Order: sequence, then structure tokens, then C-alpha cells
Amino acid sequence: MNPESAENTCTVIEREHAFEQIANVIDLYKGKEGSLIQVLHLSQKIFGYLPLEVQQFIANEMDIPLATVSGVVSFYSFFSTEPRGEHTIRVCMGTACYVRGGKKIVEHLQNHLGVDLGKTTPDGKFTFEIARCIGSCALAPAMTIDDTVYKQVNLNKIGRILEKY
Ligand code: FES
Repeated sequence: MNPESAENTCTVIEREHAFEQIANVIDLYKGKEGSLIQVLHLSQKIFGYLPLEVQQFIANEMDIPLATVSGVVSFYSFFSTEPRGEHTIRVCMGTACYVRGGKKIVEHLQNHLGVDLGKTTPDGKFTFEIARCIGSCALAPAMTIDDTVYKQVNLNKIGRILEKY
């Protein structure tokens, strides 16, 4: 077997396994109140994101229209239809952060990472997004990487922050 076909076989098995896990989750939640959000949340953890084929699978298994599933996925910003990076950078664009340099930080990160807002770097390391106020206005501008909050961020600090990842 050549390495390429071994890799493809592995990917197919992983995908099948992911769909099996999603089916188990649906089995657990189907018919319960608010179950669609739970199912989508756990499916995103299993699959990494929610492409159309996963949404279709969930719609079929839960006996609900695809439009209902897609509507919920597009309504909540924590659901993603594209593969996400290993880490998520969110720059606060609330008023306090915006006026104290948030815009410059966004522009700097766009150049540094080489991707636009909402996108993931080609190496799959970072997904780059903006956030609303994250409750650190007194120490604006602020940004988060995953669950860590960075306050009083400036262009000099950004390089050192990113190095940690
Ligand atoms: S506006 Fe950015 S933390 Fe509040």
C-alpha cells in the first residue's frame, strides 16, 4: 500500500468514526428540549467544525429540516462551517478597546498572520476573529487567545504573546 492510500484510508476511518460518535450524541439528546444546540455543540467538538454534510447528517438523524439546522448554525457565532485553527485569537472591538488602539491591533494581526478576520491561517494554527466587550475595558485594548485574556495590548507586546503559541 502506498503512503498516500494509507493516509486516505485513515482519513475515511476517522470520518466514519466521527459520524458514529455524532450518531451516538443524537441518540442521547434526540427529542429533548434544546437538543439541537447541544447536538451541534458536541458535533463541532467531534468533527472540529460543522460543514454542510455534518448539518445534513444531523438533520436526517433528528428528523428535522436542514434549513432549521443551518439557521441555528449561522445564528450563533460559536458554530463554524469552516475548519478552525488550533487557537482562536479574538481582538476586542468594543468601544473602549476600539478607541484605545483595537483597530491598530486588528490591522497589525491581519498583516502578521496574513489572513483576514474570520479566517484561519494556512498552517491551521490560528483562527482570527473580533469580539465584543470582554469585560476588561479599564485595561483596554484587550484581546483573547482561547481562554486567556491579554490586557493593555500594544503592537510591541503582540509578538511576544504569539510566541507562546
Ligand atoms: S470594550 Fe474591550 S474589554 Fe470592554
